[in-house]
Amino acid sequence: MNETALTVRQTARPHGFPTAEHFTVVESPAPAPADGAALVRNLYWSVDPYHREMMDDVPGGFTLGEPLEGRTVGRVVASRTPRLAEGDLVFHRQGWRTHAVVTPEEVRRLPDLADVSPTAHLSVLGGTGLTAYVALTRIARLQAGEDLFVSAAAGGVGTATGRFARLLGAGRLVGSTGSAAKADHLVREVGYDAVFDYRRGPAAELLASVAPDGVDVFVDNVGGEQLGAAVGALREFGRVVRVGTISRYNTPDAPPPSFDHAAVVEKSLRVEGFLVRNHRELQEELHEFAVPLLRSGRLPLDETVVDGFEHIVDAFLGMLRGENTGKTIVRDHAELAALT
Ligand SMILES: NC(=O)c1ccc[n+]([C@@H]2O[C@H](COP(=O)([O-])OP(=O)(O)OC[C@H]3O[C@@H](n4cnc5c(N)ncnc54)[C@H](OP(=O)(O)O)[C@@H]3O)[C@@H](O)[C@H]2O)c1
Repeated sequence: MNETALTVRQTARPHGFPTAEHFTVVESPAPAPADGAALVRNLYWSVDPYHREMMDDVPGGFTLGEPLEGRTVGRVVASRTPRLAEGDLVFHRQGWRTHAVVTPEEVRRLPDLADVSPTAHLSVLGGTGLTAYVALTRIARLQAGEDLFVSAAAGGVGTATGRFARLLGAGRLVGSTGSAAKADHLVREVGYDAVFDYRRGPAAELLASVAPDGVDVFVDNVGGEQLGAAVGALREFGRVVRVGTISRYNTPDAPPPSFDHAAVVEKSLRVEGFLVRNHRELQEELHEFAVPLLRSGRLPLDETVVDGFEHIVDAFLGMLRGENTGKTIVRDHAELAALT
């Protein structure tokens, strides 16, 4: 194969907000698959908040100068294993690059969902949707009619949580996000009852304005001040589902958040965190739940799709700044051309 492969690498550790200068793009000839492996041309890439955590000098983090881990969907273009055929659509974790050599064990072959966009495999059917599904069904154990507060409600996990919560029969659904435009969008399009812009004032006051009677469940993507506000607003037997702490990823020197520890006892609250990678066995259940809803149009996709692999770093930084609505996905130019 006579193609040039592009690979993003991290060159330095950021303190605080990362910039494009912390990355470089390396060109090389497209790799050839060895016996037992296949060459995949990546078509869709996921950029995620956990990548920001991996940019730090932490166990399991990115190694400077090496190709980066990331979720991606691609097509097999050359195969030297009978277990992968040319043309197969596959999911794997060698993202942040245009080409990847994979073994069958490293990929998940994706089902043919002719009427569902392949981006769904990285958004609502992927780790993002699975996170929302686990948060609601296994950690919160949401009951029909229960009221919910979701932080970072306009992001990938936040929009999936809102959509799933509605479909699972939630009661009042409120959220927070970083702009009035995104708040309006969530109410108009995603099914939230009310959303506040967390930049507008103290979180406890803003939350009280949208949920004056409190909530039963808090799905927390953010941590920080909003966590303290939510503990105050939770009713008896309420649950805090700790999903992420994005308010801290770029502000390592911020003081740790505080919340009323006594309220956890007095209201019999349950505070539980989880990592989606420990719930992979629910992937099939998520498909059974979500695919019919996607096909019927009852579950629209919430995605910000950025075209061109050359924009992957910008897409990542933009997501950290809150420029996305829904899951941030980068799409190969050829895929865009095929759609138009
Ligand atoms: N536990 C798990 O296994 C698991 C799996 C997936 C994701 N997560 C976590 O879930 C959270 C959401 O992830 P995602 O993939 O869906 O990303 P996302 O929400 O699509 O993107 C990140 C969003 O965070 C918001 N944000 C950025 N800085 C913020 C700050 N200082 N305070 C409040 N909000 C801020 C921005 O929206 P605004 O405009 O609203 O500020 C931005 O759009 C992250 O914390 C992530 O680490 C956890």
